[in-house]
Amino acid sequence: MAPPVSADQWLAAAKYRRTVYGLKSTSAVSDERVEQILGEVLSFAPSSYNTQPVRITLVTGEKHKGLWDAIIKEAEPILKGAGEEVWKTMSGIFAAHKGAYGSVVFWESGNSIKEAGEKHASGAHMFPQFAEHTTGMAQILVWTALELEGLGANLQHLQAIPPVEAVIKQYLDVPQDYSLKAHLNYGDEAQPHPEKVPEKLPLSETLKVVN
Ligand SMILES: Cc1cc2nc3c(=O)[nH]c(=O)nc-3n(C[C@H](O)[C@H](O)[C@H](O)COP(=O)(O)O)c2cc1C
Repeated sequence: MAPPVSADQWLAAAKYRRTVYGLKSTSAVSDERVEQILGEVLSFAPSSYNTQPVRITLVTGEKHKGLWDAIIKEAEPILKGAGEEVWKTMSGIFAAHKGAYGSVVFWESGNSIKEAGEKHASGAHMFPQFAEHTTGMAQILVWTALELEGLGANLQHLQAIPPVEAVIKQYLDVPQDYSLKAHLNYGDEAQPHPEKVPEKLPLSETLKVVN
């Protein structure tokens, strides 16, 4: 089978993806199309031994707002406990996330990791790490695809506050063995798509060729 796009086209598409914080409460891309993209990623993304530990929940419109209301309610006393300044900063950030149109929530299935370890006993100690790699691969595919559709998106990690993760699990009614890995807020962009890639380390530090 001939490759559908060139490597340069693929890299240009991947490079287009940016962290976009200014998001609107609208989406020019239908929920059905986003669902299709998520299904597509789940249908081909790699995982160790093809064990497929990734689970995804799509939350849109009023349910996205409700999810963020639940997050904010749970986080407020905890973050206020860390200092009024912390809450002042974070409440503004959370309000902006609530103002987006939707969330793609990435989970890791604990049962799938357990079963993978039972099936491939010699590699059992590696499956938690493999699952982390696997979710990252799915996340970058989804994030890039949504932005190529014309949306903006930013990646958040509410599991940093365990009671907030518990509230998200409850709101989205996922099985107890799921653990939260990432939360991609998305929506129409409130400003032109960022063009500049944030500065990177010199390749002399990050890349070595041995030949
Ligand atoms: C593993 C990972 C975790 C990240 N966590 C967060 C986060 O919790 N909140 C956030 O606003 N951005 C988060 N980001 C986005 C980075 O800050 C962003 O990718 C980086 O600054 C480069 O900008 P770019 O996404 O426009 O290329 C995360 C990115 C990665 C890859």
